Amino acid sequence: MKKYLSHSVEETENIGQEFAKTLKPGDVVAMYGGLGAGKTAFVRGMAKHLCPDVLVTSPTFTIMLEYTGKYRVCHFDMYRISTFDDLYNIGYFDCIDSDAICIIEWSENIPFGLPDRYIKLTINALEDEVREITAEEIK
Ligand SMILES: Nc1ncnc2c1ncn2[C@@H]1O[C@H](COP(=O)(O)OP(=O)(O)OP(=O)(O)O)[C@@H](O)[C@H]1O
Ligand SMILES: [Mg+2]
Repeated sequence: MKKYLSHSVEETENIGQEFAKTLKPGDVVAMYGGLGAGKTAFVRGMAKHLCPDVLVTSPTFTIMLEYTGKYRVCHFDMYRISTFDDLYNIGYFDCIDSDAICIIEWSENIPFGLPDRYIKLTINALEDEVREITAEEIK
């Protein structure tokens, strides 16, 4: 397990950018952390490495955003997702079974939809702007 400590949004983005260098096509990153933990900020950092120049926003309303750069990335926000049918209908499993790097915000909502292997990325808000970020490989 890898553990990082962030003291600002910028630091979270930088950690995300460094973390992204460990990824390869087909990897799935399941993010946990609760409202406003810093998941989208972390993904913004990841995208700086994976798809430079792409604008990352929160896919809360669109559910899925796709970015193309050095890698193909599918960025999900499962905040409003609760069933297997929802996942099926948004094309989630097509992405999971492809060579895209899949990044999932609000993985708490889709325990039934995670693949056999994934990287569990947790952001814990400690105090004010301090965040503990852990990355753990699940298989
Ligand atoms: N160390 C930090 N890292 C990241 N964000 C921080 C940090 N300290 C404070 N923040 C603030 O926390 C918020 C994080 O927002 P962000 O959209 O990245 O969170 P999120 O986990 O994606 O939220 P949501 O649950 O809505 O998807 C921002 O307002 C940011 O300014
Ligand atoms: Mg978000």
